[in-house]
Amino acid sequence: MGNETTGGSDRRNFLIKMTSVIGGAGVAATCVPFVASMNPSSDVLAKAETEVDLTDIPVGGVRTIAWQGKPVFIVHRTPEQIQSVSTTANALDPVPDSQRVQHPEWLVVVGVCTHMGCVPNKEGLGWTCHCHGSQYDDSGRVVRGPAPKNLDVPPYFFVSENKIIIGKVA
Ligand code: FES
Repeated sequence: MGNETTGGSDRRNFLIKMTSVIGGAGVAATCVPFVASMNPSSDVLAKAETEVDLTDIPVGGVRTIAWQGKPVFIVHRTPEQIQSVSTTANALDPVPDSQRVQHPEWLVVVGVCTHMGCVPNKEGLGWTCHCHGSQYDDSGRVVRGPAPKNLDVPPYFFVSENKIIIGKVA
């Protein structure tokens, strides 16, 4: 009788352990692909830094490139555009243009409206966001709301006179 109780207890312990091991393996088998799917894909990692050749952007021209899933506007500004942003008089978020560019003739900004994330359109001097009417000047500074702040300047640096890398600083 005593042996049957001991044997039953052993069997129960064995079954509990086996159930735990199998259950644990099942959880691990389920979680590993899930966790792996949360890692950035190789193409996303590849876009963490984007090299841009500026030579074929004419004065007054704008190129939009994709960086980390966002549009980035690169503007080869004209003397008129540079002059138009020389003061902060109209800016609602008054950061001097000189703090937003590395060379006066080149503006690099993330093309995502700081209100609710629409992509503004280039119109005349600056951009207009047609979702709710915000306007930005040619420094990417907000001059009419509801956008609360300027277009973001991404990290970037000039590798040479005509080439930049967006995504890191030198
Ligand atoms: S998203 Fe641009 S003004 Fe609202």
